[in-house]
Amino acid sequence: MNSNTHRWKFVVAANRLPVRRLWQGQQAKWVPSPGGLVSALQPVMADNPDATWVGWSGVPGDAEMPFEVEGLQCHPLSISQGELQLFYEGFSNTTLWPLFHDAIYPPEYHRTWWDAYRSVNERYAKTVVELAAPGATVWIHDYHLLLMPGMLRKLRGDLRIGFFLHIPFPARELYIRMPWRSEIISGLLGADLVGLQTSLSADNCCRAISRITGIKTSGKTIHHSERTTRVGVFPIGIDADRVQNLIAEPTVQARAVEIRESLGSPSTVMLGVDRLDYTKGIEVRMRAFRELLAEGRLSPENCVLIQIAEPSRSQVTGYAAVRREVERLVGDVNGNFGVMGRPVVHYLHQSHPISELVAMYFMADVMLVTPLRDGMNLVAKEYVASRANNTGVLVLSEFAGAAQELRTAELINPHDIEGLKLAIESAVHRSKTDCTPAMKSMRRVVLTDTAQRWAERFLSQLETC
Ligand code: G6P
Repeated sequence: MNSNTHRWKFVVAANRLPVRRLWQGQQAKWVPSPGGLVSALQPVMADNPDATWVGWSGVPGDAEMPFEVEGLQCHPLSISQGELQLFYEGFSNTTLWPLFHDAIYPPEYHRTWWDAYRSVNERYAKTVVELAAPGATVWIHDYHLLLMPGMLRKLRGDLRIGFFLHIPFPARELYIRMPWRSEIISGLLGADLVGLQTSLSADNCCRAISRITGIKTSGKTIHHSERTTRVGVFPIGIDADRVQNLIAEPTVQARAVEIRESLGSPSTVMLGVDRLDYTKGIEVRMRAFRELLAEGRLSPENCVLIQIAEPSRSQVTGYAAVRREVERLVGDVNGNFGVMGRPVVHYLHQSHPISELVAMYFMADVMLVTPLRDGMNLVAKEYVASRANNTGVLVLSEFAGAAQELRTAELINPHDIEGLKLAIESAVHRSKTDCTPAMKSMRRVVLTDTAQRWAERFLSQLETC
C-alpha cells in the first residue's frame, strides 16, 4: 500500500505510536506496546486496510517512513529534541499534567512551552488533513493534543472528530488558572464528541466550557457556532482476556509460587505497581506501612511489600524529587525493620513485562493503589482480573477514576494516613472468604467493561454525532 497517496477512513492520533522498539542485542524491532489504549484499538485497527495511527516514535529527530507492525499501520510524526523539552517535558508534563491532577505539584506556565505545544498540535492536524479520506473518522487522544480537534476542524469540516482525555479534567477553579484557557476550550470544541473517564471530569469539563465561552450547556450537549459538541463518560477498561489467558499459563502460575518463595514465604504479600510519578501516592503508602510496622500493628516477619516503580519522565521537574523521597523511605523502612537477607520492602525501579506483573498480581494478597489523583488506574483493574479464585483485597484511592466503578474495593483517602493505615491493617487480617463477595462484584465489572468495549462504545456514539 502506498501510504503517500492512500487516504484512510479511520485515523487515530496520540502522542505515542502503538508500538515500541524492542532491542535484542544489537537488533531492534517494533512490537505493539502494552497498555489499555493499544489493546482497546487493536481489534478495530489491526489488519484494517482503512485505519492508521499517527504518533511519535518516542525518539526525537526526523520521523521514519510509515510502517506496519502486526497489522497496525503506523504513521510516525517527528518531534525534535527542542520540542521534546518544550512540548513534551514542558507544556504537556509540567503545565497540563500537574494542573489537571489537581495541581498537587505546582504547574509552570511558560510562553515558549505554549508556542511549541501549539506548533506540535498544528503538525498533527496538518498531517491528518493529508491522510484522512473525505468524511473520515478521526479519534484524538489525551492532553498532549488538546488543541488538535479545533485546528483540524478549521482545515477539514467534513471529518467526524472524537477526542478522549485519559487524565482527569480539573475543577473549574483550577482550570481557569491556565493562561491559554480559551484556546484550549476552542481546541476541544472542534470535536463532535469529547470523552472523559468519570462523570466528575465530564461535569468539570462542561463547567469550564460554559465559564470560558458563556454558552449554556444543556446537559452534556454544547451548541456553538452552528455546530454541536457532546461530552460523555467512557471509563476505559483493560484487555481482560489477555490477563486471564496469562493467569491460565502454567509458567505464570509457577512464577507466582517462585516469587513468593523468594520472599521467604511470608503470610501476607502486599503489592504496589506504578509509574514513578508524584500523582501515584507511593510515598504516602510507604509512610503508612512504616508507621504500621513501628506501632507493631504489622509484623515484618509476616508481611512484605513489593513496590514496582516503573521509570518515567525522569527529565521532568518533580519526578527526580519523588524518586528521592520514595527511595529514602524504602531505605528507612528496610534499615529499621529488615533483617539480614530479608528486606521488608522489595523496591524495583524497573519496567516489567505484563506476564511478570500478572504473576505478581496472582500472588499478592493485598494490592495498594493509592494515587492522590488518577484518571482511571488500570493496575487496579488488572489486579482484579488476575484474582481468578476471587480472593485478595484491593485498597483503592477514592481519587482514582477506577473507584467510581470498583465500589466494593477498600476505598481510602490517601490524604488521611490514619484511615489508610486502618484499611491496610484490616486488609492484611481479612480472611480469604471475607474477601470473596467484594472481589466477585469487582470482577463482574472488570471482565465485562473491557478496553475493547470502551472503544466500541465511544466509536458507536461518535458515529451518531
Ligand atoms: C498516562 C497518560 C498517557 C501516557 C502515559 C505514559 O497514562 O495518560 O497518555 O502515554 O501516562 O506516559 P509517557 O509520558 O511515558 O507517554
